[in-house]
Amino acid sequence: MLELKHISYSVREGGEELGILKDITLTIPDHKLMVFTGPNGGGKTTLAKIIMGLVTPTSGQIIWNGEDVTALGITERAKRGISYGFQQPPRFKGIKVRDLLTIAAGDEKMSKDRCCQYLTKVGLCANDYLDREVDVSLSGGEVKRIEIASILARSASLMIFDEPEAGIDLWSFARLTETFEQIHAEGKATMIIISHQERIISLADEVVVVGGGEIQHRGSADEILPKILSDTLGVCPVLTRGGEGK
Ligand SMILES: Nc1ncnc2c1ncn2[C@@H]1O[C@H](COP(=O)(O)OP(=O)(O)OP(=O)(O)O)[C@@H](O)[C@H]1O
Ligand SMILES: [Mg+2]
Repeated sequence: MLELKHISYSVREGGEELGILKDITLTIPDHKLMVFTGPNGGGKTTLAKIIMGLVTPTSGQIIWNGEDVTALGITERAKRGISYGFQQPPRFKGIKVRDLLTIAAGDEKMSKDRCCQYLTKVGLCANDYLDREVDVSLSGGEVKRIEIASILARSASLMIFDEPEAGIDLWSFARLTETFEQIHAEGKATMIIISHQERIISLADEVVVVGGGEIQHRGSADEILPKILSDTLGVCPVLTRGGEGK
């Protein structure tokens, strides 16, 4: 079980304190598929990075399987089964796709077949990619899918995917959605998927809308989707305020 207790995160900008996350409290039971969604800049990636240990919260606690991991770094959290796939994955010059997968799996002798299985799950034709370097020669969608494959290879107990759909073509997206459904059905891992896609939102056991650094809504996909649609049809508050002033 993952427990986020009163998580806040702020930065100093231009001498002022800027609140990015404000007192977020959330419990995620084991083996659930959670979707975090909400407006751009709402705080989803920051929250995911706080869970992974890439960002240190200003206050609050992260409890994973009963253990307070707030003070632990990324490596320690990875050892405890937490993994995170970046919204914009880094590239690793000199490292081949095959290496990345075997390192992720912690099994240097992982067979070619097994590597291929992970790549197939994200819609890549394995033979074309295993010996490619994870460098700038890969397209944005390719590098994103390889990163997702490396999370699958890690077989973590908490998998966090940050906008897995970003830059991915429709065919691969369908394949990826099936993969998420399959992992969920196996019931071995908890998944947090940050997404703006209705197709992914509809897979969720629970949807959490993060906006303005707070949890704005939470509930089932059926409850939340109409709320998101009505929110997005609203007018821009800045423009509205500007209009009132005239
Ligand atoms: N270190 C930082 N310094 C200043 N501002 C920051 C910092 N980190 C995050 N922010 C700001 O905090 C807000 C939340 O960012 P975050 O990346 O978490 O949003 P998000 O919900 O993932 O958005 P998107 O849907 O666009 O990916 C943004 O306005 C961002 O610019
Ligand atoms: Mg983000």
